[in-house]
Amino acid sequence: MNKLTIKDIDLSGKRVLLRVDYNVPIKDGVVGDTLRIEASFPTIKYLLEHDCSIVLMSHMGRPDGKVVDKYSLAPVAKKAAEMLDHKIEFLSDCIGDEVKDKCLSLKPGEIVLLENLRFHPEEEANDAGFSKELADLGEIYVDDAFAAIHRAHASTVGVTKYLDSVAGLLVEQEIDHIKGSIDHPDRPLVAIVGGAKVSTKIDLLKSLIPKVDVLMIGGAMANTFYIGEGFEVGKSIAEPDYIKTVKELLAEAKQENTEVLLPTEVVISKSIEASEGLKTVQLGEVGKDDYIVDASDKFAQDLDDSAYEFLEFDSKGTVIWNGPIGITEIPAFAKGSRAIADVIIKIGSKSVIGGGDTAAFVDEAGLHDKFTWVSTGGGASLELMSGMDLPGVEALKSK
Ligand code: 3PG
Repeated sequence: MNKLTIKDIDLSGKRVLLRVDYNVPIKDGVVGDTLRIEASFPTIKYLLEHDCSIVLMSHMGRPDGKVVDKYSLAPVAKKAAEMLDHKIEFLSDCIGDEVKDKCLSLKPGEIVLLENLRFHPEEEANDAGFSKELADLGEIYVDDAFAAIHRAHASTVGVTKYLDSVAGLLVEQEIDHIKGSIDHPDRPLVAIVGGAKVSTKIDLLKSLIPKVDVLMIGGAMANTFYIGEGFEVGKSIAEPDYIKTVKELLAEAKQENTEVLLPTEVVISKSIEASEGLKTVQLGEVGKDDYIVDASDKFAQDLDDSAYEFLEFDSKGTVIWNGPIGITEIPAFAKGSRAIADVIIKIGSKSVIGGGDTAAFVDEAGLHDKFTWVSTGGGASLELMSGMDLPGVEALKSK
């Protein structure tokens, strides 16, 4: 990564304004998935080891510039303190005299978490005055909110104008793993792209086609490709408006000599909400009343056979995976994704998982530790994998 991180500067004893992404699921005041909280700990621990005091700040949900109780970060402060085994004081706002007085009086080792930044409309507007008020709370700014680094907001971009600014350890690792796996992969490089809509992943597909050896396309987005090739998809989710686009993508892949694989055997159901008359059929056998809800195990077998038949590279290759293969929220429709996960693990490839749904899937399956890297980013990892510049990264680079 060609920008500074906390390891490159002397921050001993400093008051650090640390942007994290604690946008985690909360139900009835209880934090669900704690992956993002845990992912912030290496940086927090590093800062504590260097006698820093820490002002944590984050957004939560999309409260639209208003105070919305269910988006309070109070439960997160409690959970994070419990997990870290270190006191974290929660402050009921993120700006104002009281907040400032408290932050300026912090002693080494003390941590506070500010209330949701997005309770103020100025956060998303990247307002200069608001950015300055946040910046006044610290002596150094550290961005470790990888999942929000694609947002040009006051706490991710605006503050960098007023403080020395560096990346945290999570941001460094995310970028190194995601960019590294695409720009300097162990060959062969296989990309597995799934999810519901091809329209949300066109930039990703376009960017990957010239870089990867094999592109596997699954999930409901494959249905649009099927229609383009004249196959029946029944009542399945598809985007007929994008047929021309997918044909262009396939033509481009051909030109680049990139092998494109789509599931040729699919799992169908009479309902999209529950398993009803579940059957595995060949692509040409899908009926008008059917929903394609998953790929069969054969798709994972294709990964095993096709991608790794050219092991003359003398490497286990690299796999990047963004987007589930079936409707993984319903366990009966998650077998195709599970089979893919198992094959990646079996081969022992360097593996990078991106995208909220895919990360949630491998996490729930208890497979998190089996992959080289599971990104904490949703939109951020999609944009980074798509080769886009991320505003938060650009802001750090410009320092
Ligand atoms: C995420 O969950 O992807 C990040 O926290 C960013 O949230 P946003 O899409 O509401 O900006």
